[in-house]
Amino acid sequence: MKKILVTGGLGYIGSHTVVALQSKGFDVVVIDNLSNSELSVLDGIEEISGTRPDFEEIDLRVKEDVVSFFKRNKIDGIIHFAASKAVGESVENPLLYYENNLNTLVYLLQQCQEHSIRNFIFSSSCTVYGEPDTLPITESAPVKEALSPYGNTKQISEEIIRDTCSVDSNLQSISLRYFNPIGAHESAAIGELPKGTPQNLVPYITQTAAGLRKELSVFGDDYHTPDGSCIRDYIHVVDLAEAHVVALQRLIGEKNTSNFEIFNLGTGRGSSVLEVVNAFEKVSGEKLNYKIVDRRAGDVTAVYADTQKANDELGWKTKKTMEEALSSAWSWEKKVRGLK
Ligand code: NAD
Ligand code: UFG
Repeated sequence: MKKILVTGGLGYIGSHTVVALQSKGFDVVVIDNLSNSELSVLDGIEEISGTRPDFEEIDLRVKEDVVSFFKRNKIDGIIHFAASKAVGESVENPLLYYENNLNTLVYLLQQCQEHSIRNFIFSSSCTVYGEPDTLPITESAPVKEALSPYGNTKQISEEIIRDTCSVDSNLQSISLRYFNPIGAHESAAIGELPKGTPQNLVPYITQTAAGLRKELSVFGDDYHTPDGSCIRDYIHVVDLAEAHVVALQRLIGEKNTSNFEIFNLGTGRGSSVLEVVNAFEKVSGEKLNYKIVDRRAGDVTAVYADTQKANDELGWKTKKTMEEALSSAWSWEKKVRGLK
């Protein structure tokens, strides 16, 4: 049985990916420092899969602890989610982001070399495309100057991986550029658990509907889009999780065409903020308090993925709708808040 290390595996996307890996027969070991997650996520994973993954509370910034982990564990592949991800915080504290998102990557790649671990999957983001010149966005679209230190860490990370792969033919890596992950597992046993005030649209919506927030601010209705609000490609986190398993199988089966590949992970469909609000009201039956406010600094007008490459080469495409994602996000929020 292949043993896969999932870093940040108690986080939002990591936990769903652990479940997807377990369902395909992988043995999973999770590293997380609990900086943005709770130990109870292990219970949620076990509730769904019947198997509690091995877990080590390690801060990947501590190199000796990383080295010690790999001395003790024989790992066949790594899916590296662990990172800090708040755009605003990265502007205020760039060094925190450069340390946490880059040092950890370097330490892991060093261990891949040290222990001849071939398979490495990295969490990247469509933020690398900035304001795109054409839509939908293909993987060959230019990487634009980053709008935040967070975005810059994703660009630099891809360069670090590319440079390492170019001199180490034993290493093979896939960088997955996520569009906007939303939703939760259908069991409502795991989901997104933002600490403090949510920065992202869907958790803000569900917390508003649950009564934790007074109203949602819609950031701008004067964009050059059909209803004036920004457009994003919202992908169900369960579909996203499955793409990681498919990417890993591609590497293990040596079906990759080069030892560093990049794939967009999205639905290929753009939805506006107001469409998301309307869809949420429909699936939840709740009236959402919202008001239109000024634009948020740094937001791009519209981004959605060209999914052809992932469809053709990974043999993967999304199965779930935005409505299913919003409905599952709402079930999760209600469960967390103890609402009926
Ligand atoms: P998350 O914060 O829920 O999960 C990240 C996990 O990593 C957390 O459990 C955190 O405790 C852990 N972690 C952070 N630093 C660590 C360290 N030094 N050592 C050990 N563990 C550490 O975030 P997520 O939404 O699941 O995102 C996962 C990855 O996907 C990140 O790399 C993120 O940048 C990327 N990504 C996320 C989105 C999104 O919208 N959620 C979009 C694009 C890319
Ligand atoms: N929005 C609101 N009100 C809110 C929150 C968001 O109107 O309270 C709007 C934003 O202006 C944007 C859309 O909802 O138009 C989506 O915003 P999110 O913050 O949910 O997502 P972003 O597209 O800004 O960015 C997210 C992550 C980034 C990641 C990017 C691409 O926050 O880290 O997706 O994957 F890089």
